[in-house]
Amino acid sequence: MTINLGQFPRTRLRRNRFDDATRRLVAEHRLGIDDLIWPIFIIEGHGQRIPVTSMPEVERVSLDLLAAHVQDAAELGIPAVALFPATPAEKKNAEGTESANPENLINRAARLLKREYPHLLIVGDVALDPYTDHGHDGVIRRGYVANDDTLAALVKQSLVQAEAGMDILAPSDMMDGRIGTIRAALDEAGHIHTRLMSYAAKYASAFYGPFRDAVGSGKSLTGDKKTYQMDPANTDEALREVAFDLAEGADMVMVKPGMPYLDIVRRVHERFGVPTFVYQVSGEYSMIMAAVERGFLDRERAILESLLGFKRAGAAGVLTYFAVEAAKAMKS
Ligand code: PBG
Repeated sequence: MTINLGQFPRTRLRRNRFDDATRRLVAEHRLGIDDLIWPIFIIEGHGQRIPVTSMPEVERVSLDLLAAHVQDAAELGIPAVALFPATPAEKKNAEGTESANPENLINRAARLLKREYPHLLIVGDVALDPYTDHGHDGVIRRGYVANDDTLAALVKQSLVQAEAGMDILAPSDMMDGRIGTIRAALDEAGHIHTRLMSYAAKYASAFYGPFRDAVGSGKSLTGDKKTYQMDPANTDEALREVAFDLAEGADMVMVKPGMPYLDIVRRVHERFGVPTFVYQVSGEYSMIMAAVERGFLDRERAILESLLGFKRAGAAGVLTYFAVEAAKAMKS
């Protein structure tokens, strides 16, 4: 049966765009505060607020300022923040052992935030790059980021993060088998409620540059991450990655970066029908901000439109450095 969709002039599609109320009534997708996860950068020290040069208006803050830094996000009802540590150089080494220190920066931050804001979800990044002196997400054996040796380190890192009270662990390392290995270790330790949000389809992207400035992993990075992060040319492979992570126990999956990979968000969401998140990464943030600073784009409209695009593609939620600003814009 073919459906008669109407014909001009009896049917005029512009009628449904006639006024604001009609447009709201027929809107197919909506962005809400509940869709947002705010990534934040933390540093050691006291009274420190250090701007990230390549990310206008983004600052790394020390723990004494963290509760105040997060207050707006918590009060606006943003469901989750994702923590990223800028580890001091003297605590980095080839094996990234600081990642397993129960008292490392990110674990202290998690404890502090859970105490201060018990209902705010804390997302812990699981990967070694903030802790390795070579900037890779895993340990290196004979010039190669070694998969299985890295898994052992990721398990230790995951356990101390779960212990510190993180609600969601987000492995961003792209090692094979990490979701299953981490899930088994968490379960064995009794952390059966700790959720896993897998960076399932994470691409070897140029758009992470500003993030690497923020956590200080960029200058030290030797080579690139192409032996573990995905080739930007591929989409079928993203579905395989997601299928593996789901089979291994991922509760939620993520596509990253965002705007250049909306096709992946759509395919993953349609194929699997699981909570699919998308990371509007640092380079996307910086592109919008650079254009805004030069007066080329309307700030609020560009931000909200970029985020709505993720919802339209099928995302359940978005990690975005604009989270607080977007939430404020939606409230007003
Ligand atoms: C590290 C990690 C990266 C990001 C999140 N976790 C960078 C990388 O893989 O080099 C990027 C986030 C961003 O660019 O905003 N495992």
